[in-house]
Amino acid sequence: MDAQQIRAAYLAMMAERGHTIIDRASLVPHDDPTTLFTGSGMQPLLRFLLGETHPAGNRLADVQPCVRAQDIEEVGDNRHTTFFEMLGNWSLGDYFKAEQIPMFWSFLVDVVGLDPNRIYVSVFSGDAEHGIPRDEESADIWTDLFQKAGVSADRVDLITEEHGNDVGNQGARIAFYQDKNWWSRAGGPNEMPVGDPGGPDSEVFYYFPQVVHDTAYGRFPHQNSDGGQYLEIGNSVFMQYRRAAGDDGAGFAELPHRNVDYGGGLERIAAAAIDSPDVFRVSLLWPIIEKLQGLSGKSYDDETHAMRIVTDHVRGAVFLAADGVSPSNREAGYVMRRLLRRAIRFATELGVENNVLAPLVDVVADIYADSYPEVGEKRETIVKVLQKEERAFRRTLNKGLRELRHIAKENRPITGDDFFTLSDTFGFPVELSTEEAQRQGLVLSTDWRAEFDDRREEQRRRSQAATKLGAHE
Ligand code: ALA
Repeated sequence: MDAQQIRAAYLAMMAERGHTIIDRASLVPHDDPTTLFTGSGMQPLLRFLLGETHPAGNRLADVQPCVRAQDIEEVGDNRHTTFFEMLGNWSLGDYFKAEQIPMFWSFLVDVVGLDPNRIYVSVFSGDAEHGIPRDEESADIWTDLFQKAGVSADRVDLITEEHGNDVGNQGARIAFYQDKNWWSRAGGPNEMPVGDPGGPDSEVFYYFPQVVHDTAYGRFPHQNSDGGQYLEIGNSVFMQYRRAAGDDGAGFAELPHRNVDYGGGLERIAAAAIDSPDVFRVSLLWPIIEKLQGLSGKSYDDETHAMRIVTDHVRGAVFLAADGVSPSNREAGYVMRRLLRRAIRFATELGVENNVLAPLVDVVADIYADSYPEVGEKRETIVKVLQKEERAFRRTLNKGLRELRHIAKENRPITGDDFFTLSDTFGFPVELSTEEAQRQGLVLSTDWRAEFDDRREEQRRRSQAATKLGAHE
């Protein structure tokens, strides 16, 4: 099955199992000031998880495009992307663990056809500090599923990622962790604002024996290791609690009902389906890589890192444009600008010195036009928005790189002042200029960040004063 077929099969299975398929939300939430982007399928459903009745019922499913801008620096490895599609299903006080876990298993094994021998899972070890019990129930359900498929179902207590790195999972299917198996929008129990929902989760990983475990990430491999052998492909959150203001601020209360919040990474499940530890090989990304190989005359094998970055960032920017975002210096527009500028920067490194975005937008639009008609319909506008940014940035990029070379010749550490000039005068965003400086092996002055922030703050104050003066006129 390719990614498009997996997406369709997922929605068909959820509908058949009594779920209402709901529309996806915009990538930019309009009524949630706490976040710039929709980063998971549950975000638009927050108030229903907290107890409000959903008009479409208590069994819901969708496929939600997500942006996780915080992952931008991770892009370039075999599995991180800033944009991805999340397969989601929710039980709002309807089914719980006993239905969710076998349903997900059946999707992976019976529908997608994954090998049960290569499925590994994690469950919640319990949290005494917050009074949340160990999740034996999920572990028992998994044991039953593995055993019926003729697969051993050993358990191991790893508790923390660090301990897992030291001892490995020793082949155990079911690993217990604490923090790694708690999910809320904010992160761990102590990070959650009062009122926010969260709960223990159970994650599923696919094992790639062809990958050599990278010991830079710990001595031994285990489910939550970044060593490359285990790829997380889905997560069932048993959203049963909300943060309450206890005496010590650490209290948790039960939600009005017990929910399931499931999210599966479409690209990652599709990668497992073609037995590829590299998500860029899936049918939603590979045509973009192919186009880039054609434009640059270089091969993916030689230029893996740069091609992954260009591919991911352009795809993300296309979806942001389809949802009405345009590059700017603020909020979502700023992230979009950063994605595009980084894509252009890396395309230049690949030798594509002009007009890289328009041909790639066309490929992205072709890939998604069937499933996301808005992307196909807005193709022309998207090309225009992206091309405009490319033209403007190419000009500043050349000037900025020249300035950076200038500084390099002076044989001194590069300072916050330099970065400010690069961004203010040359339009070279600080994230990009620091990355570029490091790439060129330049030394950064120890306090460059503080100096840069001071300069920016000073400029902000000056421009505010200017605005206020203007208002009096
Ligand atoms: N909301 C859960 C996640 O993002 C499913 O992992």
